[in-house]
Amino acid sequence: MTSGIQFILNGEHIELTDCSTNLTLLEYLRSSGRTGSKEGCAEGDCGACSVAIVDRDADGKPTYRSINSCLVPICLMHGREIVTVEGVARGCKELHPVQQCMVENFGSQCGYCTPGFVASLFEGYHRKDIRTRDQLDDQLCGNLCRCTGYRPIVDAAIQAYANRSSDGQAHAIEFSPLAATKYQHDDETFLRPTTIKDLLCVIGEYPNARLIAGATELGLEITKKFKKLQTLISVEAVAELKEIKCTEKEWHIGAAATLTQIEEKLATEFPALGDMLRVFGSRQIRNRATMGGNIVTASPIGDSAPVLLALDASLVLASTNCERMVPIDQFFIAYRKTALQPGEIVKTIIIPREGGTDATPSGGTRKFWWHKVSKR
Ligand code: FES
Ligand code: FES
Repeated sequence: MTSGIQFILNGEHIELTDCSTNLTLLEYLRSSGRTGSKEGCAEGDCGACSVAIVDRDADGKPTYRSINSCLVPICLMHGREIVTVEGVARGCKELHPVQQCMVENFGSQCGYCTPGFVASLFEGYHRKDIRTRDQLDDQLCGNLCRCTGYRPIVDAAIQAYANRSSDGQAHAIEFSPLAATKYQHDDETFLRPTTIKDLLCVIGEYPNARLIAGATELGLEITKKFKKLQTLISVEAVAELKEIKCTEKEWHIGAAATLTQIEEKLATEFPALGDMLRVFGSRQIRNRATMGGNIVTASPIGDSAPVLLALDASLVLASTNCERMVPIDQFFIAYRKTALQPGEIVKTIIIPREGGTDATPSGGTRKFWWHKVSKR
């Protein structure tokens, strides 16, 4: 049992020994005087609350990811490193290059959206793979300006990214794997196992608990429906659920891999999947949301399902007793109902590699496009 929620915030070690597991990261930041991050919508749409966390890229290297702090229960940050707008220049005597370019291009227009834009620009600066205007627009699509315009901000980004320092890294990122955790606060419990076996075991111990990955959907229950979630079990530290592996015939996607990681690995082979992911949600949402999370809600507006159905995907479902494979067209059984049994989880999403070409496994011909009628 851990005595408190611990994390590194702008280089400072923080331990919270008396905080609700339902407190959001944004609520903590603002109540502790770090008021740079703002609350605009509290539902992951406006980006005013954006901060960066240290995560892993598709090759496992630690990297910065911008996220919506309004949606994330603070307990999910245990063991992580977070950079807010107050910390982007840490270790530098001057402003961070993205801040300096915002100043020089008059990109800092109001105090409400600017901190979030800086957090997204900061992630983009360290990504080093933004080369086109489309990619830049995608990087900024989760940050809304409600009054003036984006041109000065885009100009700032173009200038900052063109003059990136050679390593593109302001300071070394320390990263250690997330550890097993149990945290208790009054009648609230937060558990974070690190193996599938332990995960299934705690699900059995706490049958009424909610499983949580990126919190992009569950977070809304806290911020919009004002629910108190008594027991949360995080799947984020289970390495097997985060893996994306490729064989000659199939892609195996861990149910807790983020949409950004999936995009990095699969978008070239499956352009329609990449197209879907880019309109699924903002960069901040894709950095946290998981495909497993999107599937298990069985929401009729979930964007993953049509693509996975078209690709003849299958799911590996795991319980303490066994694993079974279910074709995705047999997984959704009714409105918001799935074939998951009590105590069972989605472990892996399997996509046949032939689905990316014109030849189907049965020897037929597949034509595959993605259209979203109502865009964000
Ligand atoms: Fe709007 Fe978080 S407050 S995205
Ligand atoms: Fe801040 Fe438009 S909302 S400049």
